[in-house]
Amino acid sequence: MESREKRLSQLEKYLETLTPKRVIEELNRYVIGQEEAKKAVAIALRNRWRRQKLPGDLRNEVAPKNIMMIGPTGSGKTEIARRLAQLIKAPFVKVEATKYTEVGYVGRDVESMVRDLVEEAYRMVKKEMVAQVKERARGFAEERLVDYLLGNHSPEISLPFPFPLGGKEKTQPQIPKYKREELLEKLRRGELDNEIVEIEITAKGIPMVMTPPGMEDFQNQLGEILKGLFPGSKKRRKVKVKEALEILTQEEAEKLLDPNEIAGEAIYRAENFGIIFIDEIDKIAIKQHGVGGGVSREGVQRDLLPLVEGTTVSTKYGPVKTDHILFIAAGAFHLAKPSDLIPELQGRFPIRVELKPLTKREFIRILTEPKNALTRQYRELLKTEGVYLEFTDDGIERIAHYAEILNEKTENIGARRLHTVMEKLLEDILFSAPEMKGQTIIVDAKFVDAKLGDLVEDTELAKYIL
Ligand SMILES: Nc1ncnc2c1ncn2[C@@H]1O[C@H](COP(=O)(O)OP(=O)(O)OP(=O)(O)O)[C@@H](O)[C@H]1O
Ligand SMILES: [Mg+2]
Repeated sequence: MESREKRLSQLEKYLETLTPKRVIEELNRYVIGQEEAKKAVAIALRNRWRRQKLPGDLRNEVAPKNIMMIGPTGSGKTEIARRLAQLIKAPFVKVEATKYTEVGYVGRDVESMVRDLVEEAYRMVKKEMVAQVKERARGFAEERLVDYLLGNHSPEISLPFPFPLGGKEKTQPQIPKYKREELLEKLRRGELDNEIVEIEITAKGIPMVMTPPGMEDFQNQLGEILKGLFPGSKKRRKVKVKEALEILTQEEAEKLLDPNEIAGEAIYRAENFGIIFIDEIDKIAIKQHGVGGGVSREGVQRDLLPLVEGTTVSTKYGPVKTDHILFIAAGAFHLAKPSDLIPELQGRFPIRVELKPLTKREFIRILTEPKNALTRQYRELLKTEGVYLEFTDDGIERIAHYAEILNEKTENIGARRLHTVMEKLLEDILFSAPEMKGQTIIVDAKFVDAKLGDLVEDTELAKYIL
């Protein structure tokens, strides 16, 4: 129990370091511009931590201010969510609004997003708890492994590997020549890592092949029940000693943990720190030109209301209150407008932030600055073939220029345009790289013009291939 406090205070300490400024710095490493959205998210995160510091009665009064991110396609909405997820170490799920159906229809109901969140929280807590008991578990695992190596565990199987070397005859009693201690030492020094050993492991769950859509939860529950009916069904496996140690350590660690404790903590974290990111929210707004299924979409919106407002969802780990879960919704709202959402839902996302359409200036930065910038990706990819790419400033500028023009002339797909442009630009090199070992290719304005100039001129053609 006290270790629970320790884990929680670690989480809070970590969240304390995530000042709004720092969150923005971290996001800046991947997402260019869109300051307003980053700021809103950073503040909302900080408010979670602040709330946690309040006395109990007041704490319950402070509801999270849910955020709606509105911005054209390819402007960084999903990217912000993805980077946020890596950063916060709190339970986080990203879901697509379009995946859900109204309660009563076949499909996933919106409450399942809360179940997913708790599942994620459970996974996190369990991982932390496993880490805490790892050392102890490893001790037990080593003992067990030595048993297997000595053949104590299952006398009916013969020598697990040609070790100990001494005896030529395979008569059982000669086996344990090595004393346990010696074997243990060898094991710890990693000298046995590559030997093969047969171990017995507890089969994990009961695999079920068919999962009708919308029945995942039912399947989970059924799985739990079946597991209860057939506890500890064992399976034999031959593996390398090194791998065996991992498997057994994991198994011993799980024996040391109390699933109820994990569940309790997972729920606490999901309720108080959880974030649900609902992407493509505009796709369930009703007024879309001639697209059917309006009734059901509105139904999904209605189903969302209690979740966002605060309700209790039953999960396999126990009931979860959603009052303090932070919801961030995002959508391009090309066809529908936020005002096409039912009013009650609009009101539940009080913070609106707009992401700007990206232009050449941002494209230049997106191409070069982020840790995962496209130019870097292609450079590294081709380096594996011994082909070296060098992008000059004017080359980058031309790529950004063409991307912008194409967005204007055809469809504005934001930074995604950079992906199609880069792929086309480097197509020939990507194809021939294996025969180009040792070459350096300079991607300057001339190179870019030669590859893309004509294509971009020909709008009709560009529509299809860029
Ligand atoms: N502001 C940005 N900074 C850096 N990269 C960006 C930015 N915006 C978009 N990108 C790049 O474009 C890709 C698509 O962006 P993202 O998935 O965030 O679009 P979106 O805004 O969610 O669009 P949609 O409405 O179509 O879902 C990202 O993978 C990323 O590489
Ligand atoms: Mg998106």
